[in-house]
Amino acid sequence: MKITFCCTDTKAEPWLVGLRAALPQAEVSLWQPGDAPADHAVVWAPPQQFFDEQTQLKGVFNIGAGVDALLKLRLPPQATVVRLDDAGMSVQMAEYVCHAVIRHAREFDAYEADTRAGKWSFRKPLDRTDFSVGVMGLGVLGQRVARALQHFEFPVRGWSRSQKNLDGVPCYAGAEQLPEFLASCRVLVCLLPLTPETRDILRRDTLALLQPGGYLINVARGAHLVEEDLLALLHEGHLAGATLDVFRTEPLPAGHPFWQHPQITITPHNSARTMREVSIAQIVGKMAALAQGHRVAGTVDAARGY
Ligand code: NAP
Ligand code: GLV
Repeated sequence: MKITFCCTDTKAEPWLVGLRAALPQAEVSLWQPGDAPADHAVVWAPPQQFFDEQTQLKGVFNIGAGVDALLKLRLPPQATVVRLDDAGMSVQMAEYVCHAVIRHAREFDAYEADTRAGKWSFRKPLDRTDFSVGVMGLGVLGQRVARALQHFEFPVRGWSRSQKNLDGVPCYAGAEQLPEFLASCRVLVCLLPLTPETRDILRRDTLALLQPGGYLINVARGAHLVEEDLLALLHEGHLAGATLDVFRTEPLPAGHPFWQHPQITITPHNSARTMREVSIAQIVGKMAALAQGHRVAGTVDAARGY
């Protein structure tokens, strides 16, 4: 079996070492233009030339959860495209989102400003039941985040494409239930895949439906958010703030208004990182399952976009 590795912005050597150790019988190599055809590819945002040359792939394994960059390319039609299915990301995402919600609802930024100014101050505790959190996208990551928020007794609701049934979480589905879902939330967490249906979904008319003092946490993709609409709603006071991990252009360009905005917390697309060892184990297991004709979790439906 031949495996070719083509991942941008990724140190290749540790992946090659890990894949070779997990698959000693396979030939694993870093892709070079002109290489012979491989059976499987391990990829992250490869160039189109890669797929133009590697036309005989049976499996394409994406080393992230989101496949928006991959699905922009012309892929070999016979290849099964598989994304990471959790692989250590959901616990990180749960930490990140709970941290952002708690930091906001407990006013930890204001306390930090006070203590730095030498002030021993108290604020009237805010009522957590006033911070209903809506999770857009109830997939692998969204469901884990919703469950984690429930442990802190925030009211949680969720929205997805197909109807879900989650204990203690009112669930909404489809475009027609989006307004009702948004109106029930004060904090909105975006964990949707980026598809033609979800691009720009966080815009003036949707964010304006959040309860007054709304707060946005975008941990999915930058192109979900119309950035100028967020800035306008913060300026007008309808939204209280945002925590953003993803941006339309990454790295966030110098001079972008988000860098210094007092109501926006930014992080460099690190809310849930790919964990190499667990990802290699998952990918290798799925190569074996595909070889036996089994369907594997995380198989991408290109028509659906995720
Ligand atoms: P997933 O398991 O495929 O879940 C996607 C969820 O979104 C599903 O519940 C799906 O609904 C819902 N959805 C898709 N299209 C929709 C639409 N048009 N309307 C309403 N709901 C829709 O994906 P995941 O593993 O949880 O990952 C989600 C996204 O997180 C990834 O695509 C990626 O962009 C992002 N991500 C970001 C980071 C980071 O570091 N910032 C890390 C990992 C992932 P159904 O359940 O009905 O299919
Ligand atoms: C990261 O953004 C991922 O999609 O895994």
